[in-house]
Amino acid sequence: MRLQGKIALVTGAGRGIGQGIAKKLAAEGAAVGVADINLPNAEETAAAINQAGGRATALQLDVANPENAREVVNATAAWGEGRLDILVNNAGINRDTMLHKMTIEEWEAVIRVNLSGVFYCLQPAALLMRAQNGGRIINISSAAWQGNVGQANYAAAKAGVIGLTKTAARELARYQVTVNAICPGFIDTEMTRGVPPKVWDTMVSKIMLGRVGTPQDVAHVIVFLASDEGSYLTGEVINVGGGFLL
Ligand code: NAI
Repeated sequence: MRLQGKIALVTGAGRGIGQGIAKKLAAEGAAVGVADINLPNAEETAAAINQAGGRATALQLDVANPENAREVVNATAAWGEGRLDILVNNAGINRDTMLHKMTIEEWEAVIRVNLSGVFYCLQPAALLMRAQNGGRIINISSAAWQGNVGQANYAAAKAGVIGLTKTAARELARYQVTVNAICPGFIDTEMTRGVPPKVWDTMVSKIMLGRVGTPQDVAHVIVFLASDEGSYLTGEVINVGGGFLL
């Protein structure tokens, strides 16, 4: 139990990678705020954690709404008796299409959720963590931050998350708050299951370890960063992709 007594908030935790992270944090002893735009999914995840002997609460959250983000961060801290030790900014969407076909709406939706949404949650969490003189913020970027065909909006947002991570790491270090980014490679979730079989095979062929990743593969690294063992890393960008090369 490496996170006993810690209070965590995971965004987009109703399914996929976020759900894997929430379950793993809880299994390590953290009390977890399971936040998602899809409340029934968040409730299901929280119930599964509670049934397994952990502690979780479900919260409805649209990270693209700054007031809602502030409310949910503060509600989690209130539930945690005033503390918030770990924030995992995981919520994300994709609207993949080639540059010449991308609508303004597709561009803005992805920037709003995947980049602004990280800022909207990070800012109120950072205020709490500064005041308590400690905390861990982990932002989920993507291997696609370096650019990927059909993902101009997504790549731009995920590259932005890295700039935000490195800046927040500098500003918050004096308060013993660490801020790091994880770049998953190709992970088996509903987001990736939507790709055509041919694209799936091509993606898997680019993974050196020869298998698609699981939410647990990502969650193990999150636990490390959130635990005492991870206290001397900040401003880092960690690839978790089995040697994935775009
Ligand atoms: P997913 O689509 O399975 O799950 C995303 C979750 O975020 C869903 O529960 C969804 O309801 C929630 N969500 C969406 N918009 C939201 C909003 N506005 N506010 C709150 N919650 C919202 O996706 P997956 O694969 O689990 O992805 C999780 C994160 O990992 C995303 O940031 C994604 O970009 C990133 N990622 C995923 C990779 C993969 O191969 N699956 C690779 C690299 C990064």
